[in-house]
Amino acid sequence: VQAKHTAEELAAAEQALAEAGAMLAAGGTVAFPTETVYGLGADARNTAAVEAIFAAKGRPSDNPLIVHIADMSQLDGLVAEVNETARKLMEAFWPGPLTLVLPVAPGAVSPRVTAGLDTVGVRMPAHDIALRLIAAAGCPVAAPSANRSGRPSPTLARHVWDDLAGRIDGIVDGGPTGVGVESTVAEAGADGIVTVLRPGGITAEQLARHAAGVRLDAALQSAGGGESDMPAPRAPGMKYTHYAPRGELRVVTGAAPERVAAAIRAELDAAKARGEVTGVLAFDEHLPFYRADCVLSLGSLTALEAAAHRLYAALRRFDDSGVTYILAESCPQEGLGAAVMNRLLKAAGHTVIRA
Ligand code: TXA
Ligand code: MG
Repeated sequence: VQAKHTAEELAAAEQALAEAGAMLAAGGTVAFPTETVYGLGADARNTAAVEAIFAAKGRPSDNPLIVHIADMSQLDGLVAEVNETARKLMEAFWPGPLTLVLPVAPGAVSPRVTAGLDTVGVRMPAHDIALRLIAAAGCPVAAPSANRSGRPSPTLARHVWDDLAGRIDGIVDGGPTGVGVESTVAEAGADGIVTVLRPGGITAEQLARHAAGVRLDAALQSAGGGESDMPAPRAPGMKYTHYAPRGELRVVTGAAPERVAAAIRAELDAAKARGEVTGVLAFDEHLPFYRADCVLSLGSLTALEAAAHRLYAALRRFDDSGVTYILAESCPQEGLGAAVMNRLLKAAGHTVIRA
């Protein structure tokens, strides 16, 4: 389903959405575009269908799925309670890239969706095809990102095909996604404080305008991540290696761009001497510094939306080029930069080179 339209194309798109909706209603698994990344959907109430998602992705079963809805009436049966702050956030950001963790209504979704928790993550995507598909399915749609577990999330239908062809029932092609990183996962406390469990498409700065305060889940604040004395992340998905390209990735941090560039160049020399196929992920401002087998840009440091939009496709592009060792520049953790750095650090298994 593409965005250009003759009458026949529109009719074909309608037909495709009706078919995909019927597949979901019948217990199938269908990948579809959202404004963030492609999701792999199934009827959230149907345990066999939800199990097919976990099987197709190779996803650990203790990692709960986000439930997608097309309108507010679907929320009623799904959750037990919505506090005032959660309500304000919905009004401000739905449809949009914000997942709210809410108390689940008993029996509303398969226990496989919530991984046994008494909460459910819910969002209403800001994407016409997604909304129409969910409406056509006539059920709440559980959908994780439509990648094999551990791989970068898909921002093109092609990425879904590469990871999941033969493992799922269908893909709705809606062209490239917009935001490029996943939704922000957050929980609103009765005290009006919002806890960010996973940074994403809605920034902390945006949330702060509609809440008494915003804090990051404690487990997100450890740059090292995964140290044994750290609290377990409250979004269970945050504890797994994720978003990773096949090559080894290192993030290079440092306040002075010249020193970062020098460190990357030294690493590149050493890697080339070991016979690695080298890659650099950098910002436009510093591209001329680097000579590697594959140098990719995340756009300008002054426009981090572009970095979010391009990140996952870039990580997959290194794979396609056979790159075995990748050095990535870091960016300020402001606005969407927080989500970009979160994904980069996770993709690198938190191995950081400090310049
Ligand atoms: O943008 C997105 O959110 C995409 C699109 C397809 O909507 N979906 C997505 O799903 O990223 P997934 O499964 O890849 O990531 C879901 C994240 C995981 O980190 C999971 O642990 C967390 O949300 N999560 C889901 N339900 C939760 C809950 N009840 N409590 C805490 N965290 C939850
Ligand atoms: Mg995912």
